[in-house]
Amino acid sequence: MTPIQETIINKKTTNSPIWLMRQAGRYLPEFREIRKLNPNFINLCLNENLSSEITLQPLKRFELDAAIIFSDILMLPHGLNQKVEFKKDFGPQLGSLDLDDLSKVDEIDFIEKLYPIYKSIKKVSENNLIKNKNVIGFIGAPWTLLVYMINKHSPKKKLIKDFFKDEFLINRILIILEKFLKLHIDQQIKSGATVIQIFDSWAGLLEEKDLPNYIYIPTLNLVDYVKSLNVPVICFPRGVKNYKNYCDIIKPDAVNIDYDVNPISICKEINIPIQGGLDPKILLTDKENLKKEARRYLDVFKDHPYIFNLGHGVLPQTDPNMVDYLVKMVKDY
Ligand code: CP3
Repeated sequence: MTPIQETIINKKTTNSPIWLMRQAGRYLPEFREIRKLNPNFINLCLNENLSSEITLQPLKRFELDAAIIFSDILMLPHGLNQKVEFKKDFGPQLGSLDLDDLSKVDEIDFIEKLYPIYKSIKKVSENNLIKNKNVIGFIGAPWTLLVYMINKHSPKKKLIKDFFKDEFLINRILIILEKFLKLHIDQQIKSGATVIQIFDSWAGLLEEKDLPNYIYIPTLNLVDYVKSLNVPVICFPRGVKNYKNYCDIIKPDAVNIDYDVNPISICKEINIPIQGGLDPKILLTDKENLKKEARRYLDVFKDHPYIFNLGHGVLPQTDPNMVDYLVKMVKDY
């Protein structure tokens, strides 16, 4: 078993494995070099040679326990023929959404359109750098994808007015998403993904009363689906107020916490393996402080199955030397 499987499946508490969200990305000069020559982000994700190379870049530098495939949660709406563009200094911008078009998307066409992602996963999983490590496949949770598909860009702090106005549209999209997310999960696993992470980055936008309809029910279906394929599933409901309720209802194999969560209380409340928590901004400070803050998580979770990670992705301004220091420090703890 890999260190991450030992933690999630065997609930081992000695030595925390480590990987980082957005470990393959803009803070690495070798990534920026490739990115400069490839201005279209979607095309880069769909270039299996480059996306597999980018996925492996952080593993060449640091002793990480997993590779997360270089792709994006918004490749799913792209596969459903909704236009997705990534604009510099703005983020994602999606095109108009037509329910008739969406309802007509064929499963084979969808898989064909995203096929380079699956080939990239296969290439990564066959690489020597992955020995005794995991390849993490991922999806956006239905709620977070719905937010992007209807809102058309990052909602920042709130949803557009009238977001919930067309209930029929929303329910239809959720049904379509469930079907294609299952296909996307299945294809990633068939290609070599050995863990699936579900990113619900906008979970924090919802009020408690809306959680069952938009988060609990749709996510539970997908979690059960991943489990039925015998692959561990990690959920990251960023900003959700009550992680304990979320875990009691959805029962993922592990949960990633954000940096607003108090590690001491969560450790007492939740008995499934926990991942993450450290504020990525800490990596922008100094080594002394990084050591102190990372230690805080390692100390709190020393008798709890814990995978070291952050409370959100590595920031573009991060110095790779700080990542190196963090990985070594966690390994030596
Ligand atoms: O290393 C990794 O973690 C793997 C790759 C990965 C990316 N996006 C690459 C990426 C993963 C797992 C994601 C997930 C993702 N994408 C999420 C969930 C996690 C989160 O951040 O909350 C979300 C909400 C998105 C949507 C998205 N993609 C946004 C909002 C943006 C723009 C802002 C940003 O954070 O960069 C992207 C673009 C994106 N996705 C980039 C990368 C490396 C930057 C593209 C560039 O080089 O311009």
